[in-house]
Amino acid sequence: MEELLDTDLGSVRVFLKRDDNKARKLRYNLGHPRVLTFGGAWSNHIRAVAAAGLRHGFATIGVIRGEERLPLNPSLAYAASCGMTLTYLDRGTYRRKHTPEVEAALRERWGEVLILPEGGSNAAAVRGCAELPPELETEIEAATGGAYDVVCCPVGTGGTLAGIAAGLPAGRRALGFAVLKGAGFLTEEVARLQREAYGRVWDNWSIDLDHHFGGYARTTPELRAFAARHGVEEVYVAKMLLGIVARARGGGFAPGTRVVAVVTGEPFPPR
Ligand SMILES: Cc1ncc(COP(=O)(O)O)c(C=O)c1O
Repeated sequence: MEELLDTDLGSVRVFLKRDDNKARKLRYNLGHPRVLTFGGAWSNHIRAVAAAGLRHGFATIGVIRGEERLPLNPSLAYAASCGMTLTYLDRGTYRRKHTPEVEAALRERWGEVLILPEGGSNAAAVRGCAELPPELETEIEAATGGAYDVVCCPVGTGGTLAGIAAGLPAGRRALGFAVLKGAGFLTEEVARLQREAYGRVWDNWSIDLDHHFGGYARTTPELRAFAARHGVEEVYVAKMLLGIVARARGGGFAPGTRVVAVVTGEPFPPR
């Protein structure tokens, strides 16, 4: 297992676990012949659903925020090349995409479909992500000779954190890093997702709201340089890693804390 080494982390150790949260979120959502979901023009989730549709043989419809722009950007071109049908919602309607009216209009137009929410975060996705921590247990021990204390992940729509926290053994904590600005609402959203999946909420997790670097898909020279230096995805993963570094330097972890940072995706297009 790789370790984040090239920055001054004091006695805190940070291990990098490459693990695609999209695959885990989709696992228990598979089985329907037609899946409709939502995302922005660069959405990792849209690409993941399109690729899963191609691999497992189900039809996919991607509802994209905003106007159609041609030629398609590389992310949507990839989704289309997997066979995904792309359709567009103006930003106002997109904001209301999960209301009964908009869902009804989509069902009217697209027929019998499984509607997956933006980011794929639903109860089945939470249960898929909860399978990660038990797998970490033996892997971390074997690779590093010790147990971990904290699991970190980026937070967009909250399903990944909700699942990881639910799957943690006693005594460990999960810390999510919000990639959106003003994301205080995510605390209730993660709790809602845990409730939906398991009928209860865990108290072993929290969300860092201070490392969004200006907001969703925003960047800074520091963030860009860090992402390039480490070859990591910038919208989610680099923000989490820089957040961990800042916390380690600022005394945000007890001395000697062993952190597992879940590297939830790779840069697209690949570097
Ligand atoms: C690479 C990557 N990391 C993390 C996340 C955030 O996951 P969630 O939406 O479950 O909070 C996403 C979004 O799906 C993502 O694409």
